[in-house]
Amino acid sequence: MEATSQTKMDYIEPLEAQLEKNRKELSEVEEKLNKSGNMLQAILQTINEIVIVFDKDLNIKMINRQVNFRDKKCHEFFFGVPGVCEDCPVLRTIQEKKSISVEKVIRNEYYRIQTHPLTNLQGEVEGVIEVSRPITGEKAREQQLFHADKLSSLGLLVSGIVHEINNPNAYICGNIPIIREAFKAIFPILDEHVRQNPGFQVARLDYSLFKENVTLMLDDMIQGCSRIQNILGSLKSFTRRPEGLLSERVELNDVVNEGMRLVYNTMKRMAVIHTDLQEGLPGVKGNRDKLIQAFVNLMINAWQAIKKEKGNIWVKTQFEPKDNCVCLSICDDGCGMGEFAKAQIFNPFFTTKKEGTGLGLSIVAKIIGEHNGRIDLKSEVGTGSTFTLRLPVES
Ligand SMILES: Nc1ncnc2c1ncn2[C@@H]1O[C@H](COP(=O)(O)OP(=O)(O)OP(=O)(O)O)[C@@H](O)[C@H]1O
Ligand SMILES: [Mg+2]
Repeated sequence: MEATSQTKMDYIEPLEAQLEKNRKELSEVEEKLNKSGNMLQAILQTINEIVIVFDKDLNIKMINRQVNFRDKKCHEFFFGVPGVCEDCPVLRTIQEKKSISVEKVIRNEYYRIQTHPLTNLQGEVEGVIEVSRPITGEKAREQQLFHADKLSSLGLLVSGIVHEINNPNAYICGNIPIIREAFKAIFPILDEHVRQNPGFQVARLDYSLFKENVTLMLDDMIQGCSRIQNILGSLKSFTRRPEGLLSERVELNDVVNEGMRLVYNTMKRMAVIHTDLQEGLPGVKGNRDKLIQAFVNLMINAWQAIKKEKGNIWVKTQFEPKDNCVCLSICDDGCGMGEFAKAQIFNPFFTTKKEGTGLGLSIVAKIIGEHNGRIDLKSEVGTGSTFTLRLPVES
């Protein structure tokens, strides 16, 4: 009996010792794991990008932000929708077992989203790591650069054409009034001639018909020439090189007050203009006249967008400490724009107006670009539009 229990003890003791050793090792491993887990969390917290780990059922397992995501799926947590989003890059990564990089617009912000599969030793996808960062500012700068590039090559082409049209148009503009004047002097002589020669024709027209129409035709020509002159004027502003005149200290409220003096009388019949100008705004470095031109162009567009009897235009200036910039917004309750127009309006010659050149906003974009500023637009058909200019404060 004693011998048997001794034998048992001989077996059990080393097993227990081994168990204790394993337990100790396990708890050391556990501690190390915890430590590296905490370290990973700490590292992830310092990263600007949003890093999320998903399991293969799209449940959020980890996120480097202080948010409560427990038991939530991506689409529930971020978008509040019950089903997986269309073109979900996480789902695609699970299905296609490869890294994916996409750009997405989420609540009016552009994001670059990169997803990578997390695989086990057998090469099966067990989850996905997603890294995303907001790129709205980057996108805006990229678009502005692209636009500036397009504008500069177009500018070269257009300035040649402007020059070619300007000279002949100047002769026509100058000479037609003289011809008109000349006809006034000649008509009594021709009247006398017709009395003596009934049936007298000019340019295959009965004289009376010719006389009736020629003045109208000349008036139309004068109007046409002056329209060409106006268009050439806009084209010249559009193609003008940035002169070295961006060195003044400009007060944004000054720009608004001066611009308003130019447009107020014409606009007041069709629009109530509300102004809300923040006092004591810091100055910006630039060219006052050009900024006035940009403001006036935006005001004219706002006014022309008002199709009802009387609409509203709100003009507001303010300092935005977060971006250290001054901000000017022009908001109207006019016709607004659809997605197609919104994508086109800064393209030179895009217009929806019978008499428009489509250069007003290109000029605005050029001027604001020269000032290192930014233009944002919000617009909805039937509700109105808001153009917001942001200019960096003079350093
Ligand atoms: N505030 C606004 N509301 C609605 N649509 C607008 C507004 N501002 C601009 N647009 C649209 O953008 C187009 C382009 O504007 P832009 O100022 O460049 O040219 P335009 O006004 O048509 O012509 P121009 O300025 O030469 O008279 C307009 O034709 C219009 O369709
Ligand atoms: Mg315009």
